[in-house]
Amino acid sequence: MEKYRIALLPGDGIGPEVVAEGVRVLQSTTKRSGFAIEFQEALIGGAALEKYNDPFPKQTFEVCRACDAVLLGAIGDPRWDDLPADKRPERGLLRLRQDLGLYANLRPARIFPSLVSASTLKSRVVKGTDLLIVRELTGGLYFGEPRGFKGDRAFNTMVYSRGEIERIARLAFEAARKRRKLVTSVDKANVLHVSQLWRAVVTEIAADYPDVELQHLYVDNAAMQLIRNPRLFDVILTGNLFGDILSDEAAMLTGSLGMLPSASIGKETAVYEPVHGSAPDIAGQNIANPIATIASCAMMLRHSLDRGAEADRIEEAISRVLNNGCRTRDIATSKSRAIGTREMGDRICQAIEGKNQ
Ligand code: IPM
Ligand code: MG
Repeated sequence: MEKYRIALLPGDGIGPEVVAEGVRVLQSTTKRSGFAIEFQEALIGGAALEKYNDPFPKQTFEVCRACDAVLLGAIGDPRWDDLPADKRPERGLLRLRQDLGLYANLRPARIFPSLVSASTLKSRVVKGTDLLIVRELTGGLYFGEPRGFKGDRAFNTMVYSRGEIERIARLAFEAARKRRKLVTSVDKANVLHVSQLWRAVVTEIAADYPDVELQHLYVDNAAMQLIRNPRLFDVILTGNLFGDILSDEAAMLTGSLGMLPSASIGKETAVYEPVHGSAPDIAGQNIANPIATIASCAMMLRHSLDRGAEADRIEEAISRVLNNGCRTRDIATSKSRAIGTREMGDRICQAIEGKNQ
């Protein structure tokens, strides 16, 4: 029987709770399938700082490299907020992305029809939202040099090379080919030199994809259009910082940040993680929404393990459970009827295994 190895990096805050539900769902999925999954846990973020004084220890990197895919929970813990940038938990996540060469971050935002009324925006605005953010993940302002503090000034550098733009642009055009064949490239070319190069290179690459339509938007306009009419978008192609901001905005279209999965792919083992953060204020209370993590597991099955049918089964199970009215607190209309993290995991496992709801 085929066996896959998955690295688990639960991390901080609600990370461990939501990853536990992801694991249970993967185990349910393998029950009726002809493959097995072996899990290997490792530390990252604040959890790793505590034990190794390093937010991304070498052991963790080695575990990730040796596995077929990585499932990550969340990173960030206010206990470490006063540390210098290199010792903050978030640095662990950035090093994971950099060391594994994960230059492309895919963040699909699709609204489940049963959740249309859970969004803070009007139903008629969010109805039919189905977009994919392709965010460059190992360059731009996050990694550019020089950066630092000098006297009473602080600085970062936004930099992209032609090669970095080309590879992420190709990935976006390929993704669009499998969808509605529209790429919206988001930049700030009216102000930034780096965006002018971005726009020129994306336009060049588009010539290789004549079947895909390309449009360009400035980031401020894109942020506005996203909440004015999200149906204008199919694939959004953008750099690291703009992608970070737009993907949180896109998450809210779907009702809650707790719904959005992501895949980070590149040179080595791919990493799957919910878009939401560690939410320390609700950690350990069994109220976090595990759906973003569970949907990330579906992405993992599809993209890294080539198990598309099982991925479909997980996504169908999520839909079915939502259609049956199950809601965690973040997507519930009445707080008293909300179910917990574990119960939501149970319901989805039962739906996967075809048990009665
Ligand atoms: C995300 C997060 C991270 C980012 C943080 C935690 C470093 O906000 O994955 O969107 O900014 O990329
Ligand atoms: Mg973010």
